[in-house]
Amino acid sequence: MMQIKKVGIVGLGTLGTQIAIQAAHYGYDVKGYDLDPEIFQQTIQKIRGMMKFLGKGPTMPVEEWEKAAQKVKLDKDMGETLKEADLVIEVVPENLELKRKIFTQIDALAPPEAILATNSSSIPISRIEGSTQRPEKCLNIHFYAPAISMNIVDVMGGTKTIPEAIETAKQFVRSISCIPLPVKKEILGFCFNSVWRAIKKQTLYMWAGGFVDFRDIDRAWMVFTGMNRGPFGLMDMVGLDVVYDIEMSYCNESKDPQDRPPQALKDMIDRKELGVKTGKGFYTYPHPEFVRPDFLQG
Ligand SMILES: NC(=O)c1ccc[n+]([C@@H]2O[C@H](COP(=O)([O-])OP(=O)(O)OC[C@H]3O[C@@H](n4cnc5c(N)ncnc54)[C@H](O)[C@@H]3O)[C@@H](O)[C@H]2O)c1
Repeated sequence: MMQIKKVGIVGLGTLGTQIAIQAAHYGYDVKGYDLDPEIFQQTIQKIRGMMKFLGKGPTMPVEEWEKAAQKVKLDKDMGETLKEADLVIEVVPENLELKRKIFTQIDALAPPEAILATNSSSIPISRIEGSTQRPEKCLNIHFYAPAISMNIVDVMGGTKTIPEAIETAKQFVRSISCIPLPVKKEILGFCFNSVWRAIKKQTLYMWAGGFVDFRDIDRAWMVFTGMNRGPFGLMDMVGLDVVYDIEMSYCNESKDPQDRPPQALKDMIDRKELGVKTGKGFYTYPHPEFVRPDFLQG
């Protein structure tokens, strides 16, 4: 297995910042680069707000998380970030052309033995690996949001990824206190997003078709799983526009009209009912019904 000591993060927005801090906390020498030099600090500020809102901090004490944030070295030049990296994680926006372009740059700047990973939510590495000279070292390492507290990470290889690269990635994931979810054969949505996607598709269908009240689905889910919100509460948290876009990308991929998200969801988005971020989605915020003690009584 390869030894990872230095980690380069390309893209320090929502997810890149969280990944960089997680790795820095667990002793890696982390360097980060973003086109926008202010974004790392701005994102930290947003994450602090998110922690407050969720009432849930990172997996380590907040003070240690803050200390780890100071350990991440920011570079103005991507070459500086990558020149000694053992592992590079690309965390730029979800756009295939952009990712391919960035991978070509990363491939040219990182040491030849470095492993190159994408945090993409939906693009399998097999579509990106060809833009590098080292497809055998390329893979998907996909963190779930919010990465500060959701410690599951998909690991999926491409068409040429060598087992050593997969094993090294899994070991890296474990070493930062996360659970690797190896995907043995390429599947859209990786391990857990595929499951979550099936839940979203069925529950949206049941709601939009008028079969049941969405609150009853959430009640049943909360009792069944012991969670503090159901699928509709979760979708409100993610943002209904984000949910819609993700469902559309699955639909565009399969070309199956049954995969198209319901029009009723699109109507909510058009009315700016996007969930927690606009104060209204399936529920009304900041005091959604499902937090009331009598919610589970129906
Ligand atoms: N946000 C989520 O919930 C989530 C969850 C899991 C995976 N992801 C995936 O992570 C990736 C990033 O998502 P995000 O939400 O962090 O996006 P984001 O928009 O918050 O951050 C992306 C960052 O990349 C930077 N960037 C753009 N072009 C660049 C370039 N050429 N060089 C360097 N930096 C560049 C931007 O300035 C921005 O700061 C996407 O592939 C997304 O699918 C996101």
